[in-house]
Amino acid sequence: MKYNFDEVFPRKGSASVKHDLMKPFFGTDDLLPMWVADMDFKAPECVLDAIRKRCDQGFLGYTFGDESYFGAVIDWLFRHYSVQAKRNELHYIPGIVVGIAFCIQAFTKPGDRILVNTPVYPPFVNLPVNNARELVTNKLKLVNGRFEIDFDDLEQKAKGCKMMLLSNPHNPGGTVWSKADLQRVAEICKRNGVLVISDEIHADLTLPNYKHTSFSTVSDDAHCNSITFIAPSKTFNIAGLSSSVAYIPEKSIRDTYFEYLEASEFANGNIFAYIGAEAAFRYGEEWLAHLKDYLVENIAFADEFIKKNMPLVKAVLPEASYLLWLDFNGLGLLHEELQDRLINKAKVALNSGLTFGGNDYAGFFRMNIGCPRSILKEALERIAMAFDDVR
Ligand SMILES: Cc1ncc(COP(=O)(O)O)c(C=O)c1O
Repeated sequence: MKYNFDEVFPRKGSASVKHDLMKPFFGTDDLLPMWVADMDFKAPECVLDAIRKRCDQGFLGYTFGDESYFGAVIDWLFRHYSVQAKRNELHYIPGIVVGIAFCIQAFTKPGDRILVNTPVYPPFVNLPVNNARELVTNKLKLVNGRFEIDFDDLEQKAKGCKMMLLSNPHNPGGTVWSKADLQRVAEICKRNGVLVISDEIHADLTLPNYKHTSFSTVSDDAHCNSITFIAPSKTFNIAGLSSSVAYIPEKSIRDTYFEYLEASEFANGNIFAYIGAEAAFRYGEEWLAHLKDYLVENIAFADEFIKKNMPLVKAVLPEASYLLWLDFNGLGLLHEELQDRLINKAKVALNSGLTFGGNDYAGFFRMNIGCPRSILKEALERIAMAFDDVR
């Protein structure tokens, strides 16, 4: 088989955040790691080959993102999302979280309000707070097992905000926002003077039968009032290369952001950030298609297992990426007890819902299913066993 996603590799002892940093978060490190959004699959061979070739050359001096690298980014954005990015509208960024922190610092000041849709990827909650901005939450509605934006609430909350952090697609839950959703977000934000930061890190993992829409393409409101972040990091499982890109079509926003980066003497990334990203974008397509098929099967496996063996647990199944949002509230246990059983009985590490927006998400946990099916099966069996007495 050309791509064998069933193969299990030992990753402990490789300074992996997912595998080797459980102790500070869970108090123990003997857990099956189903938390950090990093998959237990090797990066595509094309990426590893490109890195090996550069190592063989032997020179690891100062390196910049050249025309070939940016050409691969531009081509990828156009082929997949009809984004017509120009070279001067793009900037290398090491990580999207850092890129968003720079946005907060460049476009807002302490006390300014920043809008997010909760539950959301924890740094979206933490970045505004850690930068002394006021966090404003527009809670997503769970409708038939899928998140929807509460636009009436968004209308109210957008007033007085300076920025909105949009996870497009959404993490957690993997919701792929429709073009109509994004057009409404764009219109409300433009009308209220709210700059939209569209984090599209999960876009390339949009699963078959769903279609990702890149924010800037949905309307003039979106095009002239947004910063979009993209990255090959989730897509090709190469987060350790620290390789992302900011795309800013509107000149005044771009000038402010790029001037902020220049004033911070922030210019180039590490050599492998460019080499790995370019190889992935140029040659990783086939690997990605097979990966998505495997993820679809993992999601179906988990869904079936949960329905059969843990009928009181409800899952939001992703339309993009590999993160399940699980609601354990039907079991009637307090969050602390759920967490305790997951850690001490199941011996499985899941992300606590509380970190995705506070107490509203007690009883929720996020599970990463980007792993060989045998690991997924074991994790699910252990979780079912840990709650066997409350079925
Ligand atoms: C929505 C979202 N944005 C950003 C990141 C991380 O981005 P980076 O590693 O580039 O900072 C993640 C990782 O899980 C994510 O889910």
